[in-house]
Amino acid sequence: MSNVVVVYHSGYGHTRVMAEAVARGVEQHPGSTCRLISVEDVDAQWAHLHAADAIIFGAPTYMGSASASFKNFMEATAAFYLAQPWRDKLAAGFTNSGSLCGDKLNTLLQMAVFAAQHSMIWVGLDLLPARSSSGVFDGQLNRLGSSLGAMAQSNVEQAPGDAPPPEDRCTAAHLGERVARLAERMNSSSA
Ligand SMILES: Cc1cc2nc3c(=O)[nH]c(=O)nc-3n(C[C@H](O)[C@H](O)[C@H](O)COP(=O)(O)O)c2cc1C
Repeated sequence: MSNVVVVYHSGYGHTRVMAEAVARGVEQHPGSTCRLISVEDVDAQWAHLHAADAIIFGAPTYMGSASASFKNFMEATAAFYLAQPWRDKLAAGFTNSGSLCGDKLNTLLQMAVFAAQHSMIWVGLDLLPARSSSGVFDGQLNRLGSSLGAMAQSNVEQAPGDAPPPEDRCTAAHLGERVARLAERMNSSSA
């Protein structure tokens, strides 16, 4: 059993699709619950983050880094940085961009450093990169070959119903399930 929070920003809905997929993955793990919190609504919900076993961060990549709204959320946590309420919680992250690369590794790196500042334990993606000789991935997870977190790519001309593709959504769900499973293991070893 574990209690996971996904805190995310999405300007146009594509990263929200990833957040919802992560939450589905968390809830696939028996007994785990997931609360989705948009950074716009976080001010009334800090207590949920402080009570969570794990927090999963999500942001679109804007100009090669986490979106400004997500960065505002990061900076707001300076208010309790000295108290370290997130010490030893699990952390993980996902991001989404318009280009295949889009410099989005930088966004995951920002999140991992942020998690370390709060003394959290970073959980990466336990998936080998997908392989394709044709550019067609046929449902394979980790289409974009990430290790640090879940990556997605959304064609900019497509609406969130169509982008990111199912492979990226399933990769996000896989990360959510992994975090829930590991959080449960941490809980049982500290009980
Ligand atoms: C201000 C801005 C900056 C962007 N910068 C990048 C970028 O650096 N790399 C990239 O691949 N896509 C970039 N994009 C495209 C977004 O990452 C992409 O459209 C993404 O799906 C948006 O997610 P959202 O719908 O959750 O906001 C940018 C979009 C905006 C609005």
